[in-house]
Amino acid sequence: MKKIAILCSGGDVSGMNPALKHFVEYSIQKGLIPHLIYNGYEGLIDDEIKEASYSDVSGIINRGGTNIGSARSKRFHEKKYRDIAKQNLDARGIDMLVAMGGDGSLKGLDIFYQESGIKFCGIPATIDNDINGTDYSLGVDTALNIIKVSIDAIRDTASSFRRAFVIETMGRDCGYLALVSHLTSGSELCLIPEVEYDLKKYEEEFKKQIKNGRRYFIAIVSEGIKDKSSDISQWFENVIGMESKVSILGHVQRGGNPSTYDRLMAYKFVNHAIDGLLSGNNRSVICYTKNGFEFKTIEEVTSKKKELDPELISYLKNNS
Ligand code: F6P
Repeated sequence: MKKIAILCSGGDVSGMNPALKHFVEYSIQKGLIPHLIYNGYEGLIDDEIKEASYSDVSGIINRGGTNIGSARSKRFHEKKYRDIAKQNLDARGIDMLVAMGGDGSLKGLDIFYQESGIKFCGIPATIDNDINGTDYSLGVDTALNIIKVSIDAIRDTASSFRRAFVIETMGRDCGYLALVSHLTSGSELCLIPEVEYDLKKYEEEFKKQIKNGRRYFIAIVSEGIKDKSSDISQWFENVIGMESKVSILGHVQRGGNPSTYDRLMAYKFVNHAIDGLLSGNNRSVICYTKNGFEFKTIEEVTSKKKELDPELISYLKNNS
């Protein structure tokens, strides 16, 4: 019987556990022997590989994070460690690998294939939604829902006082989480790395709004902008004249009960990944676009930065 393995790499996302569960179930359904690789490429190098059965993935579909651990591996960039990884897979007769992670995590797979012949399929998984070639990465919907709940909660307290809240979202240098959260939470200001801003532009309008009775502001800023969130908060205090607080949402955005959408996408990504490997897609990433699911090369998904949807950006310009 053929053997297949799965690992999680880089920042974990809610949706990895549902994907692991379906990976084991669907592999067995397809006559494959599933294996779990613990702690990402680090575990692949250190031989933390285990044959999996249904019991390894029972009761995890509702859990955030990943039950098999994740890691950011520097060692996998080095050939000597990739050689060890190949030996570990060879020793068990595993020649197919499914890897969930962001673009940095997927990057090494192609060279690994060329050196080792280990076939792979990457599943885009990052809350940042910054992987080129795919409109959706696993975990984004759950993260957006967590951000939504957090902003709604902050709105309750913001409106009880006269305060301006600066809420910082994750995303590295991609403003997707901040922008979508802005458009769907009715915040007054949104700052993202992709769009130049000049706070002076808002001064007159915000002061006028206070005169007309506005009690609070909500500003959503992406972690990758040129200023610190505390600088934006100082601007509210010193220039706009309203007490201000900063709320850095941080890693809360990476956890939580996986949303229905992420569970469904996990299911579909895994199905396509396994079917793809079985039908000869030896070195691809399964992407989700307007055309549905499509296999793309590592080169396509990692060689350039993903552009933020211009339609979304145009809404930001109109709104602020
Ligand atoms: O890539 C996912 C992400 O959560 C980013 O949004 C964030 O900048 C980074 O990972 C945080 O990394 P770590 O968990 O290593 O602090």
